Amino acid sequence: MQLPDESIEFNYQGSLCPLIDAFTPLAELQAQNFLSQEAIDGLKKRLMEVRQQVASERELPNPPAKMLPLDAGFIDLPAKLLDKHRRKGDDSELGRILKAAEKLRAEAGRVVVLGIGGSYLGAKALFDALCHTYHNELPEKMRMGKPRLYFEGNNVDNDALQDLLELLENTCIDPDIQDERWAAVVISKSGGTIETAAAYRIIRAELSRFYGNGSEKLRKRIVPITGKSGKLYELCKADGFADEEILNVPDGVGGRFSVFSAVGLLPAAIVGIDVRALLLGASTMTRRFLEEPFERNPVLQYAAVNHLLATEKKKNTRVLAVWSKKLESLGLWYDQLLAESLGKQGIGPTPLTVVQTRDLHSRGQQHQEGVRDKVVNNLIVKSPRHAPIPIGMADNNQDDLNSLARKTISDVLYAACVGTNQAYWEAARPTTNLILPVLSEHTMGQLMQMLMLATVVEGRLLGINPYGQPGVEAYKKNMLSILKSPPPEGKPS
Ligand code: PA5
Repeated sequence: MQLPDESIEFNYQGSLCPLIDAFTPLAELQAQNFLSQEAIDGLKKRLMEVRQQVASERELPNPPAKMLPLDAGFIDLPAKLLDKHRRKGDDSELGRILKAAEKLRAEAGRVVVLGIGGSYLGAKALFDALCHTYHNELPEKMRMGKPRLYFEGNNVDNDALQDLLELLENTCIDPDIQDERWAAVVISKSGGTIETAAAYRIIRAELSRFYGNGSEKLRKRIVPITGKSGKLYELCKADGFADEEILNVPDGVGGRFSVFSAVGLLPAAIVGIDVRALLLGASTMTRRFLEEPFERNPVLQYAAVNHLLATEKKKNTRVLAVWSKKLESLGLWYDQLLAESLGKQGIGPTPLTVVQTRDLHSRGQQHQEGVRDKVVNNLIVKSPRHAPIPIGMADNNQDDLNSLARKTISDVLYAACVGTNQAYWEAARPTTNLILPVLSEHTMGQLMQMLMLATVVEGRLLGINPYGQPGVEAYKKNMLSILKSPPPEGKPS
């Protein structure tokens, strides 16, 4: 597959101390808050060791107990999926994912995707970034036959779930009409997550009511994605699913690192996202990470700059400023990736996603003048997908915009971005720019793989295991024991 050169770039000039020949209060402030070139150079040897370590962790057949969990399978997954698909076609894992997507597209006008955390956020990020902003509202013709997509089971919100059921009840009336049929994808790696399991039970009952009881009909309208054992797997077997009807979360790929498995790829393929281009972008990034020197290696640069700003300059709040509405869910995906991977042993940066310019009008004041604990990583899309929209002339010029009539919405965004970076620079507030030439499958593939790899590198630099999330178990244990105990006297159940 030939793709235009869509390499993503990383630029960290906004975090580097300028070379100065005169003492000024600003130069002093910048020296306190920005990184010196020597600090970055000083980390390079360690970075090369960490890259070597991360690369070798891919190959370990039987890792020692102290290294567990070790979920490095995501690193080579994109290349492996593409390679097997080239050799085995429909019989490969990617072939099965594409086939399942095709079937659901032909079968239903609406698809509900159930999952939480790593079993939800990646698919939502891809859907929001790469589909039409109003995909679900578009007439069928404009959606080119792709189903509408809904996400549930990512919370326990009674009224939101009821709203979805009502929507389905009122729009899916006649099961003989394709556009009025609906289907579900249920995703849980462990198969035991209560949020997803409870939603699935309710959705499954609803599907049975709509299509009539009968496992054959149900199986045509449900695609489960889970591990090779666990409660969801067992339930599917009891419902009559054959092994080849259950898509797999591969062993050695952790939940929040699973976007390039069926977990993210099936929902993406259902709505027509080119998953091969995604995988190609991701595998290109793996190669760049493993082969390129620091100077051309965005993974190592991003990890190094953010690591040093956190450990040496106390910038523990990691702001991802996305300069496109369509990337907000990508930001939430990164929030989980960073928080669950590095928030351990009493340390780790605190992630925060802001959408610009929207949040300049809410958080901007604090980021300009508040506590000096932040680094702002800008995520910028260079060219919009559509032609830039001009502001235009108007007879009534009370808003004073005629002087800007030829400027476009893209020009305004560009000015806001450059102006904000300049304001932060002049206040000695560190920034970096992560630049996507366009928003496409290929750039999203690179970006997500880059952030996953950088998170693993950062974990190793901190001496923290980036895989696993032992701290999440505490609430689950309490929740279950509260659910199973009788309600205290006098209190409603
Ligand atoms: O990163 C992780 O492993 C977690 O966030 C999981 O994705 C999340 O808890 C959902 O788990 P499961 O897919 O087992 O339902």
